[in-house]
Amino acid sequence: MKVGQDFKDKVVYQIYPRSFKDSSGNGIGDLKGIVSKLDYLQELGIDYIWMNPIFLSPQNDNGYDVADYRAIDPQYGTMEDLEELIEEAKKRNIYLMFDMVFNHTSTSHEWFQKALQGDPKYRNYYIFKEPKADGGMPNNWQSKFGGPAWKYVPELGQYYLHLFDESQADLNWENDEVIEELADVIRFWLDKGVRGFRFDVINEIAKSSFADDPNEFDGRQYYTDQPKNHDHLHHLHQLSFPKDDPYFITVGEMSSTTVGNCQKYTDPENEELTMVFNFHHLKVDYKDKQKWTLMDFDFHELKELFFEWQEGMQEHDGWNALFWNCHDQPRSLSRFGDPARYPKQSAKMLATAIHLMQGTPYIYQGEEIGMENAGFTDLDQYRDVESINAYHILKKQGKSDEAIYAILREKSRDNARTPMQWDASDNAGFTTGTPWIGTNPNYRQVNVEEALKDKDSVFYHYKKLIGLRKNHPAISRGRFIPILKEHDQVYGYIRQDEKETILVLNNFYGKDCAVDLGEIEELDRFGTLISNYPDQDLSHHMNLRPYESAAWILHRE
Ligand code: GLC
Repeated sequence: MKVGQDFKDKVVYQIYPRSFKDSSGNGIGDLKGIVSKLDYLQELGIDYIWMNPIFLSPQNDNGYDVADYRAIDPQYGTMEDLEELIEEAKKRNIYLMFDMVFNHTSTSHEWFQKALQGDPKYRNYYIFKEPKADGGMPNNWQSKFGGPAWKYVPELGQYYLHLFDESQADLNWENDEVIEELADVIRFWLDKGVRGFRFDVINEIAKSSFADDPNEFDGRQYYTDQPKNHDHLHHLHQLSFPKDDPYFITVGEMSSTTVGNCQKYTDPENEELTMVFNFHHLKVDYKDKQKWTLMDFDFHELKELFFEWQEGMQEHDGWNALFWNCHDQPRSLSRFGDPARYPKQSAKMLATAIHLMQGTPYIYQGEEIGMENAGFTDLDQYRDVESINAYHILKKQGKSDEAIYAILREKSRDNARTPMQWDASDNAGFTTGTPWIGTNPNYRQVNVEEALKDKDSVFYHYKKLIGLRKNHPAISRGRFIPILKEHDQVYGYIRQDEKETILVLNNFYGKDCAVDLGEIEELDRFGTLISNYPDQDLSHHMNLRPYESAAWILHRE
């Protein structure tokens, strides 16, 4: 059986249900649509599907505003559809991971509604605070989606905290009753056969102080990675995580985190989480740490971050989630590759660079066929609340529409959310209706049907990488050793266990470069494991072609 006792050789595929496959013709992807594509995912070889939230929700933040953690939003289908999905996936040795949004609920959640009606029990589920003496907000914290993080409720004479949209009210994890409620939700889905969970912005659940923030005026120093965050996760773990299910995994989405904290979150002894997403490597194209700016990525910073996280986590028995893409990030091929000149080579290079590291790889829908940024040219085409807020904020700062569109085109989360490109028929075969968000016009060339026909496609490269992880313990469990630290174009590393040494080289640019492997011994005994150009032998002084990437293996018996 493919799924084994240990998650370390497994690969996760992320589905953004809204944009994956619509079976009903209403323009929104749904659960039956996912069922119809399971054979495709089996062909790719993945082990888990992480689905973004499908719970009942007003959809102000596409489901990250949950109104009922136990109900399926009708736009995605019914509980029976979900049960069918779990069952059908299981037949293919694929298991479901759910996305738990436990930092906040929608303001339409029953708990919040009861709080608004003045029920003290439920008021204590959230973070309500008195105004300052002058009637102003309790502090100067900013919402991550722009504007203040507090919203006034006249009926109660108090403000509530929302680190995200004002329709997403932060839960009060200091109240044990809240943790018990959430643990109950976990148990509910475990009973349905869900085998893993992704926890949304889970390093922000503990708020240690509500003081004004004198530094960045956004407050994050008081609510990111606070010591109590670890206690809360441990508590949730004790109350609800199964102790004897070898397939059960959890991943925490960690915002502005540190290696030190992530070691603690994932050290198995601490009983918190299996692995973590950190986003530092996806900020290397932020000018002055600001998202809504334009800048080429800083390659040396990218490498340093990978090295720091790979080495830091392995030293302390921690575990990374490995990823370039998700529903919150622009497409990696547009960002770090060259889809115009080297679509295949650069997509494959990015895949190899990530998949052979230590950790669990996550593939975001469409990445495996080389999907690109949306290319939208008008505000009307955007759907994402964060992007639309950003437009208004940048506009207020005096930027022209043209300048703002140029930024949104590179940075908007909607770049990841355009419909999955299945074939060259209308709307990329995603829907027979009108898709909720525009399709990337390149779907006539870039689509699953084409990818499956071409044995040299990006798809088959991903498939091969997934297979390699399962067949080579040096990849799934071996040590990570950085090499070529100072090289200006190549990200290189070695993976090693008692039996195998695997050498990985990735040229991140569209031009040739020389590589000096002077210090590595027995190069003539290595054989090619995977490459994105016709094979080349290793030598002490070698040349890599544009976006060339390959791994070579030495067996030591
Ligand atoms: C996470 C999600 C993102 C959502 C936010 C608020 O960052 O990935 O999509 O908007 O949390 O829940």
